[in-house]
Parts: sequence; C-alpha cells; structure tokens
Amino acid sequence: MDFELAGRVIVVTGGASGIGLAVAQEAAAQGARIGIIDSSPAQADAALAAFRAAGVEALVEIVDVRDEAACEAATDRIERALGPIDGVAACAGISRPEPSESMLEETWDAVIGINLTGVFRSIRPAGRRMIQRRRGAIVTISSTDGLGGHAARAHYAASKHGVVGLTRSLAIEWGRYGVRVNAVAPGVVDTPLLRRNVPPEHVANAMIDRVPLGRFSTAREQANACLFLLSDASSYISGATLAVDGGLTAGYFTRWGGADYGSNALLERGLYGPPATPGA
Ligand SMILES: NC(=O)c1ccc[n+]([C@@H]2O[C@H](COP(=O)([O-])OP(=O)(O)OC[C@H]3O[C@@H](n4cnc5c(N)ncnc54)[C@H](O)[C@@H]3O)[C@@H](O)[C@H]2O)c1
Repeated sequence: MDFELAGRVIVVTGGASGIGLAVAQEAAAQGARIGIIDSSPAQADAALAAFRAAGVEALVEIVDVRDEAACEAATDRIERALGPIDGVAACAGISRPEPSESMLEETWDAVIGINLTGVFRSIRPAGRRMIQRRRGAIVTISSTDGLGGHAARAHYAASKHGVVGLTRSLAIEWGRYGVRVNAVAPGVVDTPLLRRNVPPEHVANAMIDRVPLGRFSTAREQANACLFLLSDASSYISGATLAVDGGLTAGYFTRWGGADYGSNALLERGLYGPPATPGA
C-alpha cells in the first residue's frame, strides 16, 4: 500500500522486530529513509544488513528508550545522516504478564518505564524539531489493553491507557505547530512478543475466539495503519486512537465458541430468527 512516503525520513523505535520492523520495511518499500532506535544490537544489526542489501538508506541507533539523553543524541545523528525527520513511529515495548498481587516492583517499573515513559522520552527529541519546522507526524503504539483491562497485565494496561492519554495531550499541545500525534491500538498481532508471552493454546482458544475477523493480525497490517497516520493521507487526523483489532473492541458479546455460548455461537446454531408467529 503506497502512502507516498518516498524521500521522507521515518524513525521507528523498536524497529528491529515485530510491528516496528514491519513499519520500517513498509516505509522503506515506499522509498523512505529509515532510522531505527532499538535496544537489541543483534536484531537491529540484522535489520540494518537487510536494508543495506536492498539499497535502503538506513541507520540504526542502539538506545534504550528510557534514556532521553541517548534518544536526543540518536535523533541528532539520524538527522545529520538522513535529513529532517518527517515521522516517528514509537513501537518499542515489552510485555511481562504477572499477577498483580505478586507482581515484582521491577516488573512494574520496566513495563511502565519502557511502554509509557519510554514513548514520551523517545518522541520528544523529534517532536521538538518538528515544532521548530512546523510539520511532522508521530504515531504511538497503544493496545486493545489501552482501551480495556487484561488479567496479569495491570502494568501493561496502565502503560497502554497512559499512551492514549499521552497521545491526546501531545496532539492538543503540538497541533498548533502542525505536528499531528495519533495512536494505533493493535489487537492480537503475531509477533515474537506475542509468542513469548502467551501460551499457544490460550491464543488459539481464547484470543482468536473473541476476534470477529477470526484471526491474528499480521505485523504488516499494523504497519499499514501506522504509515497511514504518518502520511499526508491522514492530514486532518490528530489525537485519534485507531483500533486495529479485527473488531475485538467493537462490542462485548463477540465469542463464537466456548462455554459462554456467546451471541455469535447462538447465531451460528440458528437460534435467532424471525418469530414463528408473526407479531409475537
Ligand atoms: N504483538 C501484539 O499482539 C501486540 C498487541 C498490542 C500492542 N503491541 C505493542 O506493539 C509494540 C511492538 O510489539 P511487538 O509485538 O512488535 O514486539 P517485539 O518484541 O517483536 O518488538 C519490540 C521491539 O522493541 C525493542 N525494545 C524493547 N525494549 C526496548 C527499549 N527499552 N528501548 C528500545 N527498544 C526496545 C525490542 O528490542 C524489539 O525490537 C509494543 O509496544 C507492544 O506493546 C503488541
């Protein structure tokens, strides 16, 4: 899908894996220049090698998004190498499910630190430059856990609700400078993060069963939404949270199978229909 990003400079945090990597790949395929900010040297080097082999102008900065001074220096180096940044996709994030009553403080701090504080700290350096130039677009990655709660993910859901609030607030502050800020809220996306954190049978039986489209999202489908929000095709959209979730958050009674005999299951069994006696 071409969002006319040729020649644009797009920075992707968490761009070495999963959704971030797909954003970087899709943007590169449209002719964008790519700056990746990621804390994983091995994955980032592999991504960079693939970009260079394909002739893509790309740069990798190994940075922890919680370190704002390092993000500032990385942003500076990316601009000197690739030119003024047009768009940022803040995709770096982690998930470490733990029950709330026994959750370690370090787990809480890591998830809030990377998923919320890290988003703020990693987009601010580019945001300041965009304000000066009076143009730019930023997309943050929330989650359907930013729209509702999730067991064993109090920290994660708090961080992702926080991303929605952060995104709306930045959209209000920076809109007058021509800088748009939006969030994507992915549902269940088949990435290394999902495979690491959720037992396969839970994914198949519980997660997919609730998705009206009946399947995972690919990382590429999330990337398409991000690139739309980074492109001029969304020039009047700011402060929005776009659920890219196959309908997961469209309603409550969505299950097809399982013990709760959701409305969809009853529909499939023919238990809904016009009354046998007209007017009854
Ligand atoms: N996979 C899903 O189902 C799903 C659903 C909703 C939201 N999300 C969100 O999407 C984003 C991307 O997730 P993913 O599934 O692609 O995960 P992933 O693990 O495949 O990729 C995450 C990337 O972030 C990087 N990263 C982690 N901590 C970092 C740090 N401190 N500083 C810099 N980089 C760091 C990792 O090295 C990795 O390259 C996350 O914010 C995640 O919460 C994912």
